[in-house]
Amino acid sequence: MPKRDFIDICRITRKDLLTIIDLAHFIKKRKMDGIHPLHNKTLISVFEKPSTRTRISFEVAIQQLGGHNVIITNKDSQIDKGETIEDTAKVLSRFSSILMARVYKHATVETLAKNASVPVINGLSDHSHPCQIIADLLTFEEKIGSIEGAKIAWIGDGNNVCRSWIHAAEKLNFTLAIASPKEFSIDKKTLFDAKDAKIETTQDPIDAAVDADCVVTDAWVSMGDADATYKRSILKNYCVDTALMKLAKSQAIFMHCLPAHRGREVCDKVIDGKQSVVFDEAENRVHAQKAILLWCLNTPPTF
Ligand code: CP
Ligand code: NVA
Repeated sequence: MPKRDFIDICRITRKDLLTIIDLAHFIKKRKMDGIHPLHNKTLISVFEKPSTRTRISFEVAIQQLGGHNVIITNKDSQIDKGETIEDTAKVLSRFSSILMARVYKHATVETLAKNASVPVINGLSDHSHPCQIIADLLTFEEKIGSIEGAKIAWIGDGNNVCRSWIHAAEKLNFTLAIASPKEFSIDKKTLFDAKDAKIETTQDPIDAAVDADCVVTDAWVSMGDADATYKRSILKNYCVDTALMKLAKSQAIFMHCLPAHRGREVCDKVIDGKQSVVFDEAENRVHAQKAILLWCLNTPPTF
């Protein structure tokens, strides 16, 4: 059986996506105290960019499943000193059961996956953030129920997290209404590749938010983005505020992958308000990571 990488949601089947989400629900409910399906497994996490949630949730997840984590950054390894990603992948594979990488260029995680003999997980690239969306889908299902047929409103930058939402919409039959300024809208190729998904694009946040079951946003300036000042000036009318939330369904939730930039993409009243589920969403990263690790290592829990 070929190894199971987790690079993008569009590259796994709907069945596998549903398996991972169900596994995450199951793991969260069962808590799995004292059950160690990944006993003696080693995760090596490679970070080219900073992280709080991804780094800690993977570390906690592998430890609670009985394995352990080794973290390297590009700066404290030979990655920044000219060793190729191909050679790095081959070497790290000799020391580990699975790799996770947070990288600037998506091609880096693709090259790692191509050259590693162990599964590779994309812990965020400039292109996508699939692990985040597993936690988001878990959160939506906990708070609202099945996402099939629901309307999700994405407000702001057409970025990596937005792209992973598009990949999920293609698999799970929900409507994703994306409101972005034309300068920072999602690229045409991503939309073309997801042409069977129910994606609505607009420049007007109001159009996207109306009747939504969930309003989602993210930083206007992602790690590695150029010209933060210009981006912020173009995105300044894309703040999720209480007026925008009022357009969504009365039971709608607000999600943000965090870290948030209060007063920019979201106001305090929304992120701290009753509809916000951002801290459940953050907690769900750990349950999601466990499901992703178990799926990649083809270790279904037998308990
Ligand atoms: N949401 C997310 O990936 O957060 P970190 O950058 O802290 O990992
Ligand atoms: N879009 C953001 C997400 C951070 C978790 C970034 O890439 O910086």
